[in-house]
Amino acid sequence: ANANTAALGGAVGAAPSAGEAVALTILYGSQTGNAKGVAAKLKAQAESRGLAVKLVSMADYKPTALKKEKFITVVVATYGEGEPPEDAEALHEFLTTKKAPKLDGVKVAVIGLGDSSYEFFCQTAKDFEQRLNTLGAETIYQRADLDVDYEDEATTWITGALDAFEPDLKAQQGSSGGQVIAMPFAGSTTVASQYTKQNPFAAELGLVQKITGRDSTKDVRHVEISLEGSDISYIPGDSLGVYFLNDEARVDELLTHTQIDAASLVKVADEQLSIRDALIEKLELTQSYPGFVEKYAIATGTPQLLKLVEDKAAMHQYIEPRQIFDVVAQNPAKLDAQTLVDCLRKLQARLYSIASSQSEVEDEVHLTVALVEFDAFGREHLGGCSGYLARRAEEGCKVKVFSEHNDNFRLPTNDETPIIMVGPGTGIAPFRAFLQERDARGASGKNWLFFGNPHFTQDFLYQVEIQGYLKSGLLSKVDVAFSRDQAEKVYVQDKLRSNSKAIFEWLEAGAHFYVCGDANNMAKDVHQTLLEIIKENTGKSDEDAQQYLKDLRSANRYQKDVY
Ligand code: 2AM
Repeated sequence: ANANTAALGGAVGAAPSAGEAVALTILYGSQTGNAKGVAAKLKAQAESRGLAVKLVSMADYKPTALKKEKFITVVVATYGEGEPPEDAEALHEFLTTKKAPKLDGVKVAVIGLGDSSYEFFCQTAKDFEQRLNTLGAETIYQRADLDVDYEDEATTWITGALDAFEPDLKAQQGSSGGQVIAMPFAGSTTVASQYTKQNPFAAELGLVQKITGRDSTKDVRHVEISLEGSDISYIPGDSLGVYFLNDEARVDELLTHTQIDAASLVKVADEQLSIRDALIEKLELTQSYPGFVEKYAIATGTPQLLKLVEDKAAMHQYIEPRQIFDVVAQNPAKLDAQTLVDCLRKLQARLYSIASSQSEVEDEVHLTVALVEFDAFGREHLGGCSGYLARRAEEGCKVKVFSEHNDNFRLPTNDETPIIMVGPGTGIAPFRAFLQERDARGASGKNWLFFGNPHFTQDFLYQVEIQGYLKSGLLSKVDVAFSRDQAEKVYVQDKLRSNSKAIFEWLEAGAHFYVCGDANNMAKDVHQTLLEIIKENTGKSDEDAQQYLKDLRSANRYQKDVY
């Protein structure tokens, strides 16, 4: 993709002459691939209108090219506490620096993807729009902030935005109009399956085995699912989307609280079914979010909920410990069945990093699932999907799944390249896949694993396999951080630090560095520790050490799968 960017450098000049095309530049910053998908759709729609488009990942975009742009659309996700996806970080920051060019006369439109359960919903999209406007660019179509069920609204926005861009673009394209400048996506080696998020495969659930000990503070399950009868394929680093059924007992309570007859017929996305089935199969009832509280408040006229609508901070404090079940249980009110449906959003599949390689398990797929369980308001609460897999689903039942490719988390193509894997907790999952794959391939590159969890005796996930790989030599080194086995906490980053010299040597020898697991604390601390390791071994300044990591990232040698 870089070669193409360079070759196109002059193709989007400010004053186009014959033979040059003014293109609509689509910049996307994606975390899990959703923004990339929307960007691809936008490109296809623009092309079908005969508009020249340039589709480019923010990760591959040279910020200095901004001064040549005339028409820009930004498609960007937000994650964590209002943070940009990694691919978007550099451009997001660049726009606030003195180096950022004036963008007077440039026309922009921004679409954001996010999750309204989080307080800083679509913050990155808001930042991009505000920063581009500050530099002089004019918004010509209203920004959309899309929630997890973004598909339909994204389609509507694309049509509206292209209607807004089309006249100016066509006028500027002049005689050269219609030239299509396509930026190819990074190649993926699997063929797309007919089964997708919209059309999942009903797969047979196999083993669901608890792999933490009886006295563990956690309940982690090793889950095996059969893909037999489907054309789903995956490669290590990919994720599996899993749909689930809500807890029937809690659904029945919810129906009681709203005085709705379980057999009442409702419509969910053009499908007619009973309200009870809709609540069990189709609608989100665990993960709460402000949009539900607001709609439910209005539909029921509940004063204490209506007050929250005005106060964003109080709203987030309110939804944080509550599932949708709790909001309804604590604010019972008689409702019409369809009105309740219209307050709720569609149930979203949960994505899990795949813990197996098809070279080893063939038509199976394995997951490492932490059961989300907590006590609140005097009763046990379970996570939607993990609760289903661990407690309600039975071996042999059908689970709807689809695979989601992730080209940002891949083994090196060269089997001789050494790798360092940092995966505490369920972050171990993709590394089990990596190890199975490298084992099957007979890859000679060295493999070093860092794993952490509270207690050695209770929480050493896949201990037997890991020790087996160590014995066979597939794993060259394993370092474990059992945080609560001694007075002072020990974390994976402490183990990295005490191996500072060797880590640096591996990196200098071309190793790829992978991190999977908690984004908010662990991955940030690991990043900080890497910076320290680089400084310590090179004497570099903080800025130069940061550059070292940026270069690693650009070379796809520093990859994260964090959540
Ligand atoms: P703790 O729960 O004992 O604090 C997997 O969850 C492991 O990650 C646990 O051992 C947990 O330790 C540890 N952990 C918690 N915070 C962390 C952080 N900031 N960096 C690395 N590991 C962390």
